[in-house]
This record gives sequence, structure tokens and C-alpha cells, in this order.
Amino acid sequence: MKALVIGATGLLGQALIGQWTGDEVVGLGSRDVDIRDRARVRQIVEENHPDWIVLAAAYTDVDGCETNRELAFSVNRDGAVNVAHAARDARARLLFLSSDYVFEGNKTSPYEIDDSRNPQSVYGRTKAEAEIALVGILPQCSIVRTSWVFGVGGKCFPETILKLATSRPTLDVVQDQRGCPTYTVDLARAIVELCHQDASGLVHVTNSGECSWFEFAREIVARAGLTSEVRPISSQQIARPAPRPRYSVLAATSRQHYRIEMPEWKDALGRYLEERNQSAS
Ligand SMILES: NC(=O)c1ccc[n+]([C@@H]2O[C@H](COP(=O)([O-])OP(=O)(O)OC[C@H]3O[C@@H](n4cnc5c(N)ncnc54)[C@H](OP(=O)(O)O)[C@@H]3O)[C@@H](O)[C@H]2O)c1
Repeated sequence: MKALVIGATGLLGQALIGQWTGDEVVGLGSRDVDIRDRARVRQIVEENHPDWIVLAAAYTDVDGCETNRELAFSVNRDGAVNVAHAARDARARLLFLSSDYVFEGNKTSPYEIDDSRNPQSVYGRTKAEAEIALVGILPQCSIVRTSWVFGVGGKCFPETILKLATSRPTLDVVQDQRGCPTYTVDLARAIVELCHQDASGLVHVTNSGECSWFEFAREIVARAGLTSEVRPISSQQIARPAPRPRYSVLAATSRQHYRIEMPEWKDALGRYLEERNQSAS
């Protein structure tokens, strides 16, 4: 199998390149291909002849998307459409990364793949519209929704908390948003497995369990042996441009169909901290 990872310089992309063994894998960042450039996308796909394209490239700044709407839609929706057209014409399979933010967050039990989309933020809308457009172009494409992604090699929540906790005695973190953290290494392994199993349609892939951002931060600080006090606050106490779902835990049912097991998020956090220490030394 030959795989083309677009977005290989990002958090997930780096893990994909690291975890994907046994197949031929080509990784590209935005310097190699800007997915907004339809002709360049087509050229790259034709040159590489991949069996699978994993589209991990996106404009992922959720608050930035609120003010840069045009950019958000041109990368996250229209860029994905460009890749889907190129994949269809080259007879390549496509796996697209989407988000828990396609849901509004009013449920109290995990979101299933057939729950209706109702994104509350621009970022969520770009992903929801991309999902719909992609299925129209490539009905067999694979759409992996994930959430709260963290990993070594870029900006993520644990990295921010660890930096802040070394310089501040207290940290205020929201406790009224619940979801599931997802370690790039575990997500990357699941994506490779889905490609090998020729997956199609929607699949929810996150680590197991759930927590609030406050509980996640408390665990990070404790595991790292830091002494900062983590205090719970409500979302209303910090004004952020993009509304976030109050609850966005994704159900495991769809991944279990492919017999994909995902470790608990606390286990994943422990392995992330080890990897982070190793990469720092
Ligand atoms: N992070 C999360 O919490 C989260 C949650 C749910 C879903 N997701 C989705 O998971 C996927 C991977 O996320 P991530 O956290 O790994 O993202 P990331 O670290 O922000 O990386 C984004 C990647 O996209 C590339 N990129 C940005 N604009 C591009 C463009 N116009 N053309 C081509 N490449 C472009 C970047 O390339 P350069 O670095 O070379 O510029 C980088 O490789 C994304 O689809 C994201 O929406 C993420």
C-alpha cells in the first residue's frame, strides 16, 4: 500500500509518519502543497499515485476561524473538496479528519455517528460542510471524527498547561465542557488500521473515557509532579470568540465495528509525558 499524508507537519501528521510502518508513506506539509490550490493538489496526487490519502491538513485555530472565516472555509471545506476531486480522479481512497465540534453539545450521552450535526462555531461549520461535500464527491470516503487532540511536536492543551504550571501558582480551567482527550499516537495507529481495513463512512475515534478540561488539567499537573493549584471555573468566566460544545464525547460504537481498541485517556497522557520527556532529552 502507498499512503499520502497531507498535513504531515502537524500534530497528528507527525505521529502518522512515525507510526505508519510496513507501507510506503509520503508526508507533505503546506510548503509542499497548499490544499487551496486545486491544480497543485491534482499534480501532487497524480505524481504520487497513492492508494490512500489521509487528509490531516486543516486550519485548526478554533478561535481564529471566527475572525478569519474566509480562510477557514477555503482551507477546511474547499481545500478538502480539492483533495476529494483529485482522489476520485486518481482512484485513490480518502480518509478525512473531522471533529467533535460538528455537534452542538446538548446531549448527555456519547454522540453516535448518526446523531445530527449542528455546529456552533465557524470551525465546526467548516468541518460539517466538508463532511457533506466529501460524501457527495466520494461516497466511499472515510471520515474520522476525533476530539481534544494532544501530542508531542506542536501546540496542544497539555503543553500549554505544563508551561503555565511551571510559572504560576494557580491555574483556572473550565469545568463545564466535557469531552475526551485523544493522543496523536493512538489516533495515528487507529487511522493506519482503518486504511488497512478499507474503512468507509463515519468513524468516531478518541481515547476511552471522558473528562472536563479542568479534570484533564488537574491530571496533567499531578502526573508531571507540579505544585500549581488547578481551580475549576465556568465557560462564562472566560470570554472566547468561538463557542465550544458543553458535551462532545464521541461514542466508541463505530470504531468497535472495526475492532479498534483505544486506551483510556489517562493511560495515553502517561505515555505522552514519557514521549515528551524523551524528546526533550
Ligand atoms: N487538534 C485537535 O484538537 C483536533 C480535534 C478534532 C479534529 N482535529 C482535526 O485533526 C486534523 C489534524 O489536526 P492537528 O491538530 O494535527 O492540526 P495542526 O497541528 O494544526 O496541523 C495542521 C496541518 O495542516 C497543514 N495546513 C494548514 N493549512 C494548510 C493548507 N492551506 N494547505 C496544506 N496544508 C495546510 C499544516 O501545515 P504546515 O504546518 O506545514 O503549515 C499542518 O501540517 C485536522 O483536520 C483537525 O481539524 C483536530
